[in-house]
Amino acid sequence: MMGHVKPGGGFRGENFLLIFLIIVIIIIVIIIVYFVIKKRKKKKGREKLREHAYKGIKSREDIKSIYTPTGTSTSENEENDTMIKLENLTKYFGKYLAVDNVSFEVHSGEVIGLVGPNGAGKTTIIKMIAKLLRPSSGRIWVRDNQGELKDLNKKSRNLVKLGFLIDIPAFYKDMTAYQILKYSALLQRYPREKINDRIDELLKIFDLIDWKHEKVKTFSKGMTQKLGMIQSIIHDPEIIILDEPQTGLDPLARIDIRRMIKEFQRNGKTIFVASHMLAEISEVCDKIALINFGVIIAFDTIDNLERGLRTSGLNCKLLDPISPDQLGSIIKKLTERLEPYLDKDLDLFVSKIPIKYIPQERSFKIFYDTTDSKQTRAEILKILVKEFESDFTVVSFSKPKKGSQLEQIYSKLIAEDKVEIELTKGGVN
Ligand SMILES: Nc1ncnc2c1ncn2[C@@H]1O[C@H](COP(=O)(O)OP(=O)(O)O)[C@@H](O)[C@H]1O
Ligand SMILES: [Mg+2]
Repeated sequence: MMGHVKPGGGFRGENFLLIFLIIVIIIIVIIIVYFVIKKRKKKKGREKLREHAYKGIKSREDIKSIYTPTGTSTSENEENDTMIKLENLTKYFGKYLAVDNVSFEVHSGEVIGLVGPNGAGKTTIIKMIAKLLRPSSGRIWVRDNQGELKDLNKKSRNLVKLGFLIDIPAFYKDMTAYQILKYSALLQRYPREKINDRIDELLKIFDLIDWKHEKVKTFSKGMTQKLGMIQSIIHDPEIIILDEPQTGLDPLARIDIRRMIKEFQRNGKTIFVASHMLAEISEVCDKIALINFGVIIAFDTIDNLERGLRTSGLNCKLLDPISPDQLGSIIKKLTERLEPYLDKDLDLFVSKIPIKYIPQERSFKIFYDTTDSKQTRAEILKILVKEFESDFTVVSFSKPKKGSQLEQIYSKLIAEDKVEIELTKGGVN
């Protein structure tokens, strides 16, 4: 009987295999369904985020209506000296729209700041200009030596030279500043006989001459970044493009970077600098392009952008903080008393209420009617000092600093939650 197979035994084995296969198929199907659902959710999440960026702004027309740019952009003169022109530039990563129909021009000698939160699309735009990424659609025009605009992605010859600083520079740590710069200059085909002078000149301007023969591994972050900036201009480009040049630097090094940008500007260079910190670069920029979720939401001089915001707020700093139980009645009294001078047409992008108290700053922000602004400010100050003497003591009274209103809009747009006590007209009850 040895070797005799039990009747039905083989059949049971086949059965077992079939069940096993079915279970495996079910598990695979479950895994696939899980990943499909997850991907869809992620996509929906991104779309929601995108909608969130336009809270209150429904269309491009709405965006335009927030800002009423008062001129500048394209005079006839400027049209002839365009250095870079972005035309409906769009970039998809898979289905994700990272840069959405971006158009603007940069003119000779201008410093343009591309400002937006992380993930807004700044680096993607810069990488497309650097030809590290190819646009999904739209075009990039760059001036050539004859002064004509040429399509960057066609075989264009004799384009003006561009210099880039993209990301934190990663140098070979055992090379010296001199070796790195010489190597870069050779790569960029800078005339060999002029290289040494050029390196010395730039190291001197940017205070690194004493470090010329030191290895980069002994450099601080700020010095490495400065070396990166020198490397980006070693071949003396007309157009300098910097991506977040102040990233990771301490305040002193950041001042140095701004000084470098000003130095480039003095030499007549055209500069395009991306940053997520508006305050950091607005001082050195002629114009700002605000970007969020791949869309340019404003592009103009800071003055014009702020003029476009109808509302202007006074800062009124107090000696002592106001206690929460008094705050409501004081705001109410202030609103009643200052009624004739308050902004009747508040720009909701700046504030929903005409007077607000900012506890951290121990100050009132008063949005006033700017029709006859000097006179109005004088009247408001008189009332605050004379009639509110028993409520608080004013220690300073000032118009907002240049760029600070824009800063406010910017932080609203990027939904950066500021802890501010907002009290509706009439105060807390
Ligand atoms: N190579 C890539 N593949 C897929 N998505 C990318 C890639 N590069 C950037 N992104 C996405 O595109 C968006 C814009 O990124 P980026 O241009 O780096 O923004 P920023 O420089 O303003 O911080 C981000 O959501 C980012 O995750
Ligand atoms: Mg970036």
